[in-house]
Amino acid sequence: MLDNKTSTTRETSTAKDPYSFNGETIATAAPKIGDQAETRKFYIESYGCQMNFSDSEIVASILHDASYTSTSDFLKADLILINTCSIREKAEETVRKRLKTFKQVKKANPGALVGVLGCMAERLKAQFLEEEKLVDIVVGPDAYRDLPRLIATAEDGDKGINVFLSREETYADISPVRLDSNGVTAFISIMRGCDNMCSFCVVPFTRGRERSRDPYSIVAEANELSGSGYREVTLLGQNVDSYKWQHPEEKDIVNFAKLLAMVAKINPQLRVRFSTSHPKDITDEVLHTIAKYPNICNYIHLPVQSGSSRVLEIMNRTYDSAWYKSKVQRIYEIIPDCAISSDIIAGFCTETEDEHQETLKMLRYANYSMSYMFMYSERPGTLAAKRYDDDVPEGVKNGD
Ligand code: 5AD
Ligand code: SF4
Repeated sequence: MLDNKTSTTRETSTAKDPYSFNGETIATAAPKIGDQAETRKFYIESYGCQMNFSDSEIVASILHDASYTSTSDFLKADLILINTCSIREKAEETVRKRLKTFKQVKKANPGALVGVLGCMAERLKAQFLEEEKLVDIVVGPDAYRDLPRLIATAEDGDKGINVFLSREETYADISPVRLDSNGVTAFISIMRGCDNMCSFCVVPFTRGRERSRDPYSIVAEANELSGSGYREVTLLGQNVDSYKWQHPEEKDIVNFAKLLAMVAKINPQLRVRFSTSHPKDITDEVLHTIAKYPNICNYIHLPVQSGSSRVLEIMNRTYDSAWYKSKVQRIYEIIPDCAISSDIIAGFCTETEDEHQETLKMLRYANYSMSYMFMYSERPGTLAAKRYDDDVPEGVKNGD
């Protein structure tokens, strides 16, 4: 029998030896591609969400094709990459601290290059190169195919930067090189970007517009993982329930429910998970699909963010507290033993103590199996940063 109630943690590393800085998780790449003396070596470190860990596997594949091998010792690397997260200020501080450590490498090996990938690269762009003199390469989440050219540019003594955000890139044809793999669980990225504009969130600015990956390449990747002995795949996207793909010459649309069924049918012994669901987009069709296939885990990560309807409104979440509760009820109706987890932000702009208490009530109502709790962190450029005062004191946010 499948134990499909166990929940996953989104900011938990899949690394064999994960370690944590200020609560943000990181993982380093264990060497998977044979170490050969004559080839150049790269080292990659990933921070933040599962999507970033999955992206690092795409980067590893691109570098592999460019004749790089990976190393888990950054002191031995010719190229050090850090895949960054911008979601909260603390995550960015962690990366800056880590970059200081990489100075050692430059001392020992002046030819070594340091590259910043991901959300922080996208947010800060060329400014990063001015602020952090040590950095040679800056690459946004949609520009990883350009890495070999950017490395060559940096080797010639120029700075390599590409922060172009694409409306099409899904890396569908790239077969990820599984880093730190336990051979049992793997992530499959099914879409990129986010079209929601939650007022607190920097992701739409750093990861660009939402686009879905061709379902046949997703099924092929899951099939290959299943064939090589993996027992669980997690389908990843910022908002998986708005997955939508239409072949240019066909009428049929593949939505998330259909995609889930396609992946579930590959092998009844392969457990299927997914993350993240926006409450406004998860449909009855998705819930019935989860109920129908025993190998789709009865677990939904359904971030509420706040239990107060006023706060939800200024967060631009597009639902209120009563609507979220009815969605939770619907889930328990269709999948009675479903585990639900959540993300919660404490101390969002103008939030009162009574409104925070409403969030605590929501925790009890929804009976979450687990929740990630965050203190609100103002992110430059977001709607909240422009419109509202970050006026809840730090001590109140963290409950001191
Ligand atoms: N401050 C605190 N938490 C945030 N999140 C997103 N943006 C912020 C922010 N500015 C949280 C949300 C989201 C999770 C991935 O991170 O809860 O669901
Ligand atoms: Fe950010 Fe909202 Fe998109 Fe999630 S759904 S990535 S919180 S904007």
